[in-house]
Amino acid sequence: MLEASQPREAVAITVRALRHHYRTPAGPLVVLDGLDLDVPAGGYVAVSGQSGAGKSTLLSILGGLERPKAGDVIVGGVNVAGLKGDELAAYRRSTVGFVFQHFGLLDTLSARENVELACALARVPRQRRRARAGDLLAAVGLQERTAHRPTQLSGGERQRVAIARAMANRPSVLLADEPTGNLDEDSTERVAALLESIHRDHACTLVVVTHNRRLAARASVRLALRDGKLVAA
Ligand SMILES: Nc1ncnc2c1ncn2[C@@H]1O[C@H](COP(=O)(O)OP(=O)(O)OP(=O)(O)O)[C@@H](O)[C@H]1O
Ligand SMILES: [Mg+2]
Repeated sequence: MLEASQPREAVAITVRALRHHYRTPAGPLVVLDGLDLDVPAGGYVAVSGQSGAGKSTLLSILGGLERPKAGDVIVGGVNVAGLKGDELAAYRRSTVGFVFQHFGLLDTLSARENVELACALARVPRQRRRARAGDLLAAVGLQERTAHRPTQLSGGERQRVAIARAMANRPSVLLADEPTGNLDEDSTERVAALLESIHRDHACTLVVVTHNRRLAARASVRLALRDGKLVAA
C-alpha cells in the first residue's frame, strides 16, 4: 500500500452517462441526467450552477460518498461507481480530499486535532501525525492558530483548516464544494491562492464548485451544471 506521506500522482477523471435521482414523496427527483465530464490528470475544473442543480451531488459521487444510479465514474483508471466495501473505503481514504460546503470540522477538537484525526484516518503513523498536522496548518498560514477550536476561528481560517484536513492523505483528487461560499473578499482571495498553490505543487486534479468569479478564473476549464448535464460556462 502506498504510504500516506508519499507524494501521489494526479489522476484523470472520466465520467460517462452519469445518472442520479433522489426518491421523494412526489416521485423520483432526477438530478444528474446523462452527465459527461473529462478532466485530465492535474486538471483544474470549476463548476457553477443554480442552487439545487446537483453540484454537491456530483462531488459526492466523484468522492465515492454517494453511489450513482447509472453511469461510469472513472478516476485514475478505476470505476468508482462499481466499488464496494473495503475498496470504496480505500478509494475515499487514499485518493480523495474533500472540502465540504459547510466545513465539517469537529467543534470539540482544536485545529491541530481536526487535522491529526484526518492524518489518522489516512493512516499516517501515530508518531508523525502531530508534526504532519502542524506542517499542513503552516502550509495554509495557520501556524499561530493550531490550538484554536473551530468556534475560535474566523470563517476564512476555518475554511483553511478544512483544506489542510483535506490534504492530510495527499489526495490525487481534491474536491471542494463552494470553498469560498461564506467568505469576505480577502479570505476568498487567500483560499483561491491556496487552492491554486495546492494544485500546482501537489500534482492534484482539482474540481471546485464555486460561484465566485475570481476562483473560477483560476481554473483551466469552467463548466456549468444545467438540466442534469455539464455545459461550458
Ligand atoms: N438526500 C436527498 N433526498 C432528496 N433530495 C435531495 C437529497 N439531497 C439533495 N436533494 C435534492 O437534489 C437537488 C440537488 O441537490 P444538491 O445539493 O446537489 O444541489 P447543489 O447544486 O449543490 O445546490 P447548492 O448550490 O444550493 O448547494 C436539490 O434539489 C435537493 O433538494
Ligand atoms: Mg451544494
